[in-house]
Amino acid sequence: MKNSYFGEFGGCFVPELLMPPLLEVEAAMNDILPTPSFQNDLNDLLRDYAGRPTPLTYCPALSSECGFHLWLKREDLLHTGAHKINNTLGQALLARRMGKTALLAETGAGQHGVGTAAVAARLGMQCVIFMGAEDVERQSANVTRMKILGAEVHPVENGTRTLKDAINAALRYWISHQRTTHYCFGTAAGPHPFPTLVRLFQSVIGKETRAQCLEKTGGLPDAVVACVGGGSNAIGIFHAFLEDASVRLFGVEAAGTGEPGCFNSAPLNLGVPGVLHGSHTMLLQNNDGQIEPSQSVSAGLDYPGVGPEHAWLHKSGRAHYGMVKDANALAAFRRLCRSEGILPALESSHALAFVLDHPNRFAPGNAVIVNLSGRGDKDMDIVTQALEEEGHEHS
Ligand SMILES: Cc1ncc(COP(=O)(O)O)c(C=O)c1O
Repeated sequence: MKNSYFGEFGGCFVPELLMPPLLEVEAAMNDILPTPSFQNDLNDLLRDYAGRPTPLTYCPALSSECGFHLWLKREDLLHTGAHKINNTLGQALLARRMGKTALLAETGAGQHGVGTAAVAARLGMQCVIFMGAEDVERQSANVTRMKILGAEVHPVENGTRTLKDAINAALRYWISHQRTTHYCFGTAAGPHPFPTLVRLFQSVIGKETRAQCLEKTGGLPDAVVACVGGGSNAIGIFHAFLEDASVRLFGVEAAGTGEPGCFNSAPLNLGVPGVLHGSHTMLLQNNDGQIEPSQSVSAGLDYPGVGPEHAWLHKSGRAHYGMVKDANALAAFRRLCRSEGILPALESSHALAFVLDHPNRFAPGNAVIVNLSGRGDKDMDIVTQALEEEGHEHS
């Protein structure tokens, strides 16, 4: 396998039984993905089915409160509600060209599951989804959507009953179904070639953002900010700006409740190097190498690892990674709803909070772009409950 590392991070640490399907995906990535016919089919679907390009929206009220110019890249407006569909469409098309008849996926918040289920229906493929049992409970609206779209949803009761355990179950399933099934991995993590493959499909976000910012402001942004779960929306928007030294890149991890002794989902800030899901990366693990449970109010950020390219961007200093607590993400959610009339996903609310809570990170007049990775419809129950507990009105 070539080019499977980002600095010292990445690689492909999997049981031998997973090597044949991973090599098959790597070959498809190198031989099929760059062809004009594949790119044309993908671009048609991204435009006419998913709804690309997504707008770059200016936030007048929050900009005047903060003293800099706040822009949102509106991945929340995509079909199925999040950036996940960029990757799902790409991998599904690739799978079909590889002769596969079924898509397999893990999901945390359910957005990747819904995206995969929708695309499987569109392309006439079977769809099997693994989802941690805790996530099935807290993102139940998305479970219903997946089933209605024709997917088989398997709740996973092992471990912390979240995304990590769903990935383990999906990898196990893939071993015995690799002849017919493509594992449509949902984030820029896992074994090679997934971190590169997912980034290739998500980098459309950054390419559009760069062109739109040049057109609307006459220059590049001063900062680009995105939340980091496994890292796909962040690497997708960062990539077009990696060579632009003037553009500061900020990833935002979930700090959980932030109370002493409580778990978090911030492996870049609080973890150590190790191997999880086939990749050498930064992880939350104890001194015996056991994975620590992660915790976040947002299911999509609730993961103890992170994509290896982020581990490298962190180590090399090209990107910086902050942390935001549950309560601050909820407050940012509320602020965007009330100030701009946009309901963000709780995942994206972490990126917003990083910007809104510390406006002095940015100079007056700066252009700051937040990647609004998804919409908040799936989070209504969690947000309603949290606001009630805080004594806020929400009607
Ligand atoms: C709306 C949204 N944003 C962000 C994420 C985090 O994933 P990633 O870090 O791969 O972008 C998720 C994951 O489910 C999500 O649903």
